[in-house]
Amino acid sequence: MSDWTKSSWRNKPRIQMPDYTDAAALNAVEAQLSQYPLLVFAGEARRLKTQLAAASRGEAFLLQGGDCAEAFDQFNSDSIRDTFKVMLQMAMVLTYGAKVPVVKVGRMAGQFAKPRSANTETVGGVELPSYRGDIINGLDFTPEARIPDPQRMLQAYTQSAATLNLLRAFSTGGFADMKRVNAWTLGFTDSQEIQKYRDLASRIQDSIDFMGAAGINSDTTHEFSSVEYYTSHESLLLEYEEALTRVDSTSGKWLAGSSHMIWIGDRTRQPDGAHVEFASGVQNPIGLKCGPTTTAEDLKVLMAKLNPENEEGRLTLIARFGAGSVGDHLPRLIKAVQEEGANVLWTCDAMHGNTIKSESGYKTRPFASVLREVREFFGIHQAEGTIPGGVHFEMTGQDVTECTGGVRAVSDEDLSDRYHTACDPRLNASQSLELAFLVAEELSALRESRSV
Ligand code: PEP
Ligand code: CO
Repeated sequence: MSDWTKSSWRNKPRIQMPDYTDAAALNAVEAQLSQYPLLVFAGEARRLKTQLAAASRGEAFLLQGGDCAEAFDQFNSDSIRDTFKVMLQMAMVLTYGAKVPVVKVGRMAGQFAKPRSANTETVGGVELPSYRGDIINGLDFTPEARIPDPQRMLQAYTQSAATLNLLRAFSTGGFADMKRVNAWTLGFTDSQEIQKYRDLASRIQDSIDFMGAAGINSDTTHEFSSVEYYTSHESLLLEYEEALTRVDSTSGKWLAGSSHMIWIGDRTRQPDGAHVEFASGVQNPIGLKCGPTTTAEDLKVLMAKLNPENEEGRLTLIARFGAGSVGDHLPRLIKAVQEEGANVLWTCDAMHGNTIKSESGYKTRPFASVLREVREFFGIHQAEGTIPGGVHFEMTGQDVTECTGGVRAVSDEDLSDRYHTACDPRLNASQSLELAFLVAEELSALRESRSV
């Protein structure tokens, strides 16, 4: 867009963003952030784009996952390491099923700002502004904590930089425990369902052992000693995003330097709104959440705005309809994409359409609904002859009890044991792996049906 600038979003309707009361304090933080180094580099974002392009053609598969919301008080190296490790384990299982490379993108190192369904929250008759993520205000239910504070952006930047530093170190450091695939299913309780996951794990283990015997291992082969790992978050707090947006000297194009990929949430995808305006002008890969209220007309306008050159890998459509509803919405949106001849990567967020309030009062997601939505997503792409190119989950490597179900079943009553999320409920390590086995099965069934 010729009249795009990194601040042109300011002339568009803005929603889900705080009204900072102290303009001078806000300006000072923005000025400071604009001097800080970018967290990612343009070459990395371009490389991710080529890998997402491959996923859109079925030659790779996207695994995007991590926290719903990163939090200042839960920042520690163990949780970063554990989430990274579980994502690598999931990726290995998926690679085996899909027989294509898995592109790994964390909801990490910047996933701080949260859209909310209500502006205020009422507890015991007291009404306060909603919590909007640690980059904006505090979770404590006090009037002081809920005041948006621009200083929080600096803290979020620092945490993101330290997280990325650790992720970059892990990515080149090799991960010894990746070789013991059989051990991954140890925590699973015995059942018929689980036996097939154990069999799959054994087959993966056999392949690794065979390669090791043939001399292909982390000492000899670069692919086994380093992984590519990318970051992403919802591009919601545009003052922060703008301050980290710079021109890339190689291409002369703008880069949102806060993470490799950014996405637009289901609540902020208005074609004429501020969030779409901002994302339209940066060269990063862009994700667009598509929910039950996404119309075919809006999607067409959004595809034209966000990807006017119809570049492969630029636009990822993240379907999040809810189990039982995928069939009502995905086919009509696939049709809209086909009518436009648009290049997109389709992925499935099986979390955000499946949030319920449990009997015990906790916000949760039944694991069975998550599995069902994934199956429906694959089934519809199978029927339409289109490509299910990835999955998107809220997950953690920690042993939390936030989503119910799974082979090491978490019950309604268990939710209070280890419910730590600052926002939406996440899959724990065991549930995440179980899901990877299911997706691997779906992928290999699809591959077999299409190769005949
Ligand atoms: C999210 O991904 O955390 C989120 C808020 O999703 P959505 O915009 O799809 O509701
Ligand atoms: Co969420």
